[in-house]
Amino acid sequence: MNLITAKKLKKEYSQYRWQTNSNEIFTEEMTLFTLTGKDVTYSLAALESGHLAHVYYGKRADDEDLSYLMRLNENPYTPKVNKRDMGTFMDSAPFEYPCHGIGDYREPTIMLMDSEGMSALDLRFVSYEITDGKPILEQALEDCTVRIPATFAEKDEAQTLAITLKDNRTGLTAVLYYTVFAELDAITRSVRLINNGTKAFDVRRVMSACVDFDSCDYDFITLNGSWARERIIERSPLHHGKQSVDSVKGESSHQNNPFTALVSHNANEDIGEAFGFGLVYSGNFFAQAEVTQHKKTRFVMGINHFDFSWTLEPQKSFTAPEVVMVYSSEGIGKMSRTYHDLYRRHLIRGEYKDKRRPILINNWEATYFNFNTEKLIDIAKQASALGIEMLVMDDGWFGHRDSDNSSLGDWFVCEKKINGGLKYLVDEVNKLGMKFGIWFEPEMISPDSELYKAHPDWAIQINGMPLTQSREQYVLDYSRKEVRDYIYGLMCKILDSANIEYIKWDMNRQLTEVGSNALPAGRQRELWHRYVLGVYDVMDRLTSDYPHILLENCSGGGARFDAGMLFYSPQIWTSDDTDAIERLKIQHGTSICYPPSAMGAHVSDCPNHTVGRTTPFSTRGNVAMVGTFGYELDVTRISEQDRNEIPGQIEQFKKYNPLIRTGDQYRIGNVFEDNTWDAWIFVAKDKSEAVFTFVQVLGRPNYGSRRIKLKGLDPNGKYLSSETGEIHTGAALMNCGINITVHGDFSSKVIYFNRAD
Ligand code: GLA
Repeated sequence: MNLITAKKLKKEYSQYRWQTNSNEIFTEEMTLFTLTGKDVTYSLAALESGHLAHVYYGKRADDEDLSYLMRLNENPYTPKVNKRDMGTFMDSAPFEYPCHGIGDYREPTIMLMDSEGMSALDLRFVSYEITDGKPILEQALEDCTVRIPATFAEKDEAQTLAITLKDNRTGLTAVLYYTVFAELDAITRSVRLINNGTKAFDVRRVMSACVDFDSCDYDFITLNGSWARERIIERSPLHHGKQSVDSVKGESSHQNNPFTALVSHNANEDIGEAFGFGLVYSGNFFAQAEVTQHKKTRFVMGINHFDFSWTLEPQKSFTAPEVVMVYSSEGIGKMSRTYHDLYRRHLIRGEYKDKRRPILINNWEATYFNFNTEKLIDIAKQASALGIEMLVMDDGWFGHRDSDNSSLGDWFVCEKKINGGLKYLVDEVNKLGMKFGIWFEPEMISPDSELYKAHPDWAIQINGMPLTQSREQYVLDYSRKEVRDYIYGLMCKILDSANIEYIKWDMNRQLTEVGSNALPAGRQRELWHRYVLGVYDVMDRLTSDYPHILLENCSGGGARFDAGMLFYSPQIWTSDDTDAIERLKIQHGTSICYPPSAMGAHVSDCPNHTVGRTTPFSTRGNVAMVGTFGYELDVTRISEQDRNEIPGQIEQFKKYNPLIRTGDQYRIGNVFEDNTWDAWIFVAKDKSEAVFTFVQVLGRPNYGSRRIKLKGLDPNGKYLSSETGEIHTGAALMNCGINITVHGDFSSKVIYFNRAD
């Protein structure tokens, strides 16, 4: 396997040279690195001066030497008679990991506050190493080492280039990691900083990746939203200056997602170039595209530098999280499919990685806080008779919790509600042939709790400032190991007390008054990141100690739908908005970079609790079928007619889930552009079968049927339609289309195509 090459080159240039200001012919020695994925090339060069230059990122070019693209002899600033100096070079040349303070006025990747109060750096090339596979990422803390979530690969699946840079004055060493995957158009980047100097310094900014694009002719795609409308796609052409998205909330957030893409203006689902950037991180992030004076684009992504600082003592290191860069020359759809494949194979782990998830029923929208053992068993009895496989007991089973206002942190069973005890309830549910799952919100503490009475200092807080309540709760200081150990200990007691096979890990408020009673003043700004590391530490312990438990993440709906969380939980609750029509946008936006198989999606009751809309039960099922599938309603109280549809929905889900979980998704409709219909198709990798879903948003008079062109099939294959019983070629189905007739608002249809040649 030879995915990465390193070549020493000598190039002759006949014009000005920034280093010497000479206009004679000069020779530049460099080491050129070329990373080659399936259809992607990434190239960079360590110049003689030690600067690390960006050379090319884009469609695969099997040319051994792309260094001709570098404009080492061009001077964009001054008339030809003038000589070029270092300042002009620094502010115009494309760099891999640009520093601040030495003449590059574009966005820097790194900044320090050193022992002398200086922030400038001058990182230069020292050495490189190429290895097979991909190293794991870790952060050593005072009392433990935390594994940082990242994609993984076997030795024959990927290669990694590690480039070491050093700033001589401070002793800062930065190791840039680039991993390229053999079978995918994906390159990952991360950075490790080491203090090889003699004095401590504070890292004030550390981006995980930078790409200096040679053009600004791109649209910027971001996923924005709010509670109950997460990951709504926004797309706008780049303009001069800086355009960014970020989170300052302590989690990846409802409002912006740690994913963005730059796409060519002509890009749509099927054509054009797309460069996706996803950060494998669940805390404050930053992503920015900056159009420069030369109409080029600098893109940077990493931990948000806002209110961030990390003290690095001599010989200590800091690991910045991973950016996953995906390239597509065949539109946004192909970019998404690459992310889906990458995350399904190289990020999601555990026993459920390649398995259909149990069809669950969650009692939240069925009962809210108002339930007890009898009620849950009633639901389970009905549910099991209909074929539902797992009962999930949501919020309200612990302490004395009857509303949002108490008991977080008191993870003891509320015997008043769970009369008979947890084991009894779980055993009864198991007797019905169902699994049992449970809800926790492990990062939180209610002011009204035993825990808060005993340890008020365990809440994140700033002494002397009023502590802001949100959802009537505070956030626990997960930077403290004793806090994590205590909460995890309580969780283990619950998990060991009964046969629990699923956990919904919730996180329902953002961080305020970000201060820790355990950190010294100089390290307080580390808390944002230490908090996230603490969460990762507990999730790591949980998934290692209880490998059989299926973990689903959740954060007030979908505020933590990020790649960091997918490392621990193969599924994430997509949104508290369960309305099938709202879900079209939410699920479409989420599928831009996350696999549908990871989307928590449930059939809920109508009128929908969030938007008040009533949709057909069948459409609710057809839309939820794209995700993990389950129910979130009181099955004992819904109409007989709806109830009777459940076994058929379950059968349909079981039949199509393997295809949806492992196949390729092609989005056909775009509800962001035309909100009157939506459609998508999942096609098996070998093109042997496909399942197509169409949803009509509003019924329309007098137009007749719609003609929809399918995608992703084998044009030469013949396919049997489950709807018409007719056989047509893939070419006909894709080039000419099929006629779709549905009647009524919010109606939908699923058609299965099976190879028949
Ligand atoms: C959050 C979740 C919901 C539910 C409630 C319980 O809002 O997103 O699904 O678990 O908390 O309080």
